[in-house]
Amino acid sequence: MSSIRKVAVFGASGNFGAPITAALIQAGFEVTIVTRPAGGSSSSSPPKPTRSNFPAGAGSVVQADYGDVAKLTSALAGHDAAVSVLGPGAIAHEVSLVDAAEAAGVQRFVVNEFGWGGNPRSYPEMVEVGARRHVAWDHARAKAEANPAFTWTGVTIGNPIDWALRRFPRMGFNVAERTAVIYDSGTEHFTGTTLEGIGQAVVGVLRHPAETANRSVKARSIKTCQNELLEAFRSESTAEHHWTVTHEKVADLLEGGRQKHQAGTGGWILDLLIAQLYEEGLARCVVASNREDSDADLLGIREETAREVAAKALSLV
Ligand SMILES: NC(=O)c1ccc[n+]([C@@H]2O[C@H](COP(=O)([O-])OP(=O)(O)OC[C@H]3O[C@@H](n4cnc5c(N)ncnc54)[C@H](OP(=O)(O)O)[C@@H]3O)[C@@H](O)[C@H]2O)c1
Repeated sequence: MSSIRKVAVFGASGNFGAPITAALIQAGFEVTIVTRPAGGSSSSSPPKPTRSNFPAGAGSVVQADYGDVAKLTSALAGHDAAVSVLGPGAIAHEVSLVDAAEAAGVQRFVVNEFGWGGNPRSYPEMVEVGARRHVAWDHARAKAEANPAFTWTGVTIGNPIDWALRRFPRMGFNVAERTAVIYDSGTEHFTGTTLEGIGQAVVGVLRHPAETANRSVKARSIKTCQNELLEAFRSESTAEHHWTVTHEKVADLLEGGRQKHQAGTGGWILDLLIAQLYEEGLARCVVASNREDSDADLLGIREETAREVAAKALSLV
């Protein structure tokens, strides 16, 4: 397998796409950003904002409708690898991206996983949600089986921890208000990958194409629990910013989420994701129990402390 130099990224302005693209550029890859046509001229993708904040330093920005395999194929010509980090709204297009990458002679396609992979300990409702995402992964796997020149990798990140702590106070930490909700005893451990770790994971995959071919790699920056994070938030906060702590039960969160699911109202996915994270004794959200069981060393992802993660979550407030 030859080395990878030229990389196309889909979703480069997104929550994870931006740090991944910046990390690839920083690592010395020649990066092309592929984006939807501006102004909603595409027939099969919804309108995109007229301005996108792409990381600086990409070699070029190319527009292509995500449903147009011929256009995508010409956009990907000459690239060694392609990475899909499109948002959940674009999930229906992932198969076209795989088809175009193979047709263009791309040797590695990083599928749009960036989640929990095929987590066998997920709640059944979450398995159902995940199944939609598996269609493109299975498609990439089938392509690779039929054509050895085409390979794929998925990146399992678990909880995107610094981003999620900032984005979802429901995870138990309202960093703007300095309030915390501790679920049950606060001792259930889970693994997470920071935005830095997510960017490094993709860099690591493309630097090690042979070791990462045709499988999902396990990323992690930290294994932690709510009590450790609360301690870290307290340590990283200034003296006048006291944290107010209340307690809730995972069982109530889970029941509420399932009621919303049955009633067809929104918000249940987040409720179940958080219940799954903190339900005690089942390690439902541990991607790799020990660092050695993960691919962190191969990929060059450093282990971060709870205080570092808390400082990152607080830094944007
Ligand atoms: N593990 C977790 O808990 C977790 C959390 C969040 C996300 N994720 C996963 O990470 C991946 C990336 O998510 P993200 O939050 O970074 O994505 P995002 O920021 O919502 O979107 C990324 C890019 O996708 C394109 N896009 C968005 N919506 C689209 C639509 N409806 N149609 C066509 N293109 C669209 C846009 O690119 P252009 O404007 O350039 O076309 C956008 O900048 C997804 O697989 C997501 O499920 C996992």
